[in-house]
Amino acid sequence: MGWIARRLGIVAGSMAAILVCAAAGHSQGGKDVPKDVPKGFDYWQPDWMVRELWGPGRMPRSMMVRLLRHTTYMQFSVPDAYAGAKSPFAGDRAAIAAGRKLYADKCLRCHSADGMGSGEAGLALSPSPALLAYMIRRPVAVDEYLLWTIADGGKQFDSEMPAFKDDLPRDDIWRIIAYVRAGFPAEGATPGK
Ligand code: HEC
Repeated sequence: MGWIARRLGIVAGSMAAILVCAAAGHSQGGKDVPKDVPKGFDYWQPDWMVRELWGPGRMPRSMMVRLLRHTTYMQFSVPDAYAGAKSPFAGDRAAIAAGRKLYADKCLRCHSADGMGSGEAGLALSPSPALLAYMIRRPVAVDEYLLWTIADGGKQFDSEMPAFKDDLPRDDIWRIIAYVRAGFPAEGATPGK
């Protein structure tokens, strides 16, 4: 907790700077830009980073929460307990199959079976559950980032993402990560083929 508290001030400062810079280019347009973004609209899609959402008063709180997690990682990495951690199960079929069951038990109710964030228990949450099917393909989705996120959860960023470090052994977290990386394969499917 001390780790994050010390850094949040600096992160908030750098985000404010980002917002001010983005506001300067605000009127130059982008692709498929929505004219009016409804207040509180949770704009979380593959094309979400249209320029018009950047700027004072434009960005929904839910998006700021997500960005704060990402920005914290980019600026400060992860706490020592997770630094440099690597999955022992990359591409391991048994781990992917086990991860499928663990995901169904622990994650599906919010993140949904296809990783599109539309699970029953996630519908009323703000920010809404991450679209894992997309985020897993982004540069930020490295092992240590995913381990930290799943182990420590979202309390420190004011989100409802639970912390699993007391609930799941680290290897089970890696198994879930292997399953998500494999693209949520159906039971009996051969991942990657
Ligand atoms: C109670 C609902 C809930 C459950 C259960 C849940 N999550 Fe989440 N999760 C969220 C919410 C809400 C967010 C978005 C806010 C945030 O990033 O903290 C999120 C964010 C994430 C992120 C961060 C995505 C990013 O872009 O940085 C990852 C990774 C993740 N969840 C994985 C999991 C895994 C794996 C499980 C199961 C072990 C799980 N979650 C269970 C609600 C949930």
